[in-house]
Amino acid sequence: MRSSVITPTYHPVAAASARLAPEVTERAVASALPTRLRPADLLRLTDEGAEDVLAGRYDHLLPADGRWPADSRWATRLSTDDEVDVWLISWVPDQSTELHDHAGSLGALTVLSGALSEYRWNGRELRNRTLTAGDQASFPLGWVHDVVRAPDQFAGAPAPGNPTLSVHAYSPPLTAMSYYEVTGHGTLRRTRTVLTDQPEGDVK
Ligand SMILES: [Fe+2]
Repeated sequence: MRSSVITPTYHPVAAASARLAPEVTERAVASALPTRLRPADLLRLTDEGAEDVLAGRYDHLLPADGRWPADSRWATRLSTDDEVDVWLISWVPDQSTELHDHAGSLGALTVLSGALSEYRWNGRELRNRTLTAGDQASFPLGWVHDVVRAPDQFAGAPAPGNPTLSVHAYSPPLTAMSYYEVTGHGTLRRTRTVLTDQPEGDVK
């Protein structure tokens, strides 16, 4: 069920005054975002996508005979419309996304099987966490991270027999990503921006 209809909020004067009640200011910020969907909506969409994959509803999009690529990251778009793209990604060891953002898109993911390591820039340093099957994460605007299949003590034996899979949603649908490096003095340097609709960097 994709019951993601949300009533847009429109507050023409809210953004002009810091004296407004906090909840009004919050709505004003929300209405300025490039999408009606919120992180909670994207989390729900990825959760539903993961359930649908497990239930076999996307089997026609998956590699034949369960032969997940063992040497390269793989992705298929499960659904798309003007507001949101939903992708299924299969991860392989030692292939990170590089440190990146999602340009003007909000994002979310649900880990379906295996585990992912995420390195997120917190403004001072990269913080690592492991997301295992069933875990979810959302990415507000400005989220900069690097994602890689977790070491096999978390993810299990390498693909193809035991894929690490995650479902991602981006709203508005991805059109660009910027890449970054951490400098020697504890800041981020943006190294390039690419136009792409591919999730978490170009995948083969
Ligand atoms: Fe990402």
